[in-house]
Amino acid sequence: MKKLLMAVLCGAFGMLMTAAGEKVGVAMPTKNLERWNHDGANMKAVLEAKGYDVDLQYSTNNDISIQVNEIENLIQNGCKVLVIAAIDGSSLSSVLANAKAANIPVIAYDRLIMNTDAVSYYASFDNFKLGEIQGQFIKDKLDLDHAAGPFNVELFTGSADDNNSEFYYQGAMSILKPFIDNGKLKVLSGQTTKAEIATKNWSTEEAQKRMENLLTGNNYGPDDVKLSAVLGTNDSIANGISTALIDAGYTPDNFPIVTGMDCDVMTVRNLLNGSQTMSIFKDTRILADKVVAMVAAILEGKEPEVNNTTDYNNGVKVIPSYLCDSIIVTKENIAPVLFDSGYYKAEQFK
Ligand code: BGC
Repeated sequence: MKKLLMAVLCGAFGMLMTAAGEKVGVAMPTKNLERWNHDGANMKAVLEAKGYDVDLQYSTNNDISIQVNEIENLIQNGCKVLVIAAIDGSSLSSVLANAKAANIPVIAYDRLIMNTDAVSYYASFDNFKLGEIQGQFIKDKLDLDHAAGPFNVELFTGSADDNNSEFYYQGAMSILKPFIDNGKLKVLSGQTTKAEIATKNWSTEEAQKRMENLLTGNNYGPDDVKLSAVLGTNDSIANGISTALIDAGYTPDNFPIVTGMDCDVMTVRNLLNGSQTMSIFKDTRILADKVVAMVAAILEGKEPEVNNTTDYNNGVKVIPSYLCDSIIVTKENIAPVLFDSGYYKAEQFK
């Protein structure tokens, strides 16, 4: 009992000592893509549970100038720490110089902010590894080490202005390129460079349009040239790819392998009905917890926990990073990973 009382008192005292009440600014890129709604809501809830005052801002339609203005407002409004998921990792140098001048530490959330010394920490997933996982998934499904092939594949990557796209692209290509080089994988469109396969703003519509062009341009179709796999970096892109494939007549029996990440609601439906093959669960609750722990440590004058101090150079310095783990999700493990963990409710998909 005495121990319990001590624990309660320590907890309450701890809250007073954790700089509770301090204002934390959170800038998210867009409400148009599902994942950032989860991220923003989690960050706000966890920060508020710790007693912080949260100013959460979203840009509109990935508009960079709106995000810059919002960050400026967060600085002016007395935020003590800024958490930023950048739209364009390279466009924040001047506004973040103001944050630095005002002694406001900045945590880059999920996307590294480039070319500035004003970023203190970075928290994300292991983005190179995520690309590798998608490449490996295609390699395993097509059994590229043993099957004779050749197999036709097409490639998509994320928005060119998002630094993560580079890691996803390099990770996936580290697995797929040797098979493209030895002819076991064929990319009939010839589009394999990051610039050629990028998808502006990670847009579903852009991905669908490009997939439609690839289908007609290369005569891919269920009764024509067989397309075996499409590397779709995230779920908003995979979703556009799937729609184009369905419109072209593909059915669950002959659907090409389509990869993604984020485990968006639409993707869970597509995994269940066979119009996407895999996604990767990046539990935004874990990322939010890690970032909130960083915020708390900074405000308490402690060193935040990091687990990577070598790989994320933003062009000015290596940013100490915390990289969270992720889980591959296919139709088979949706229930244990996404439902049992409470991320979604099974009823949502009935
Ligand atoms: C994130 C992905 C997300 C994409 C589009 C990337 O920076 O890492 O998880 O799907 O942005 O929002």
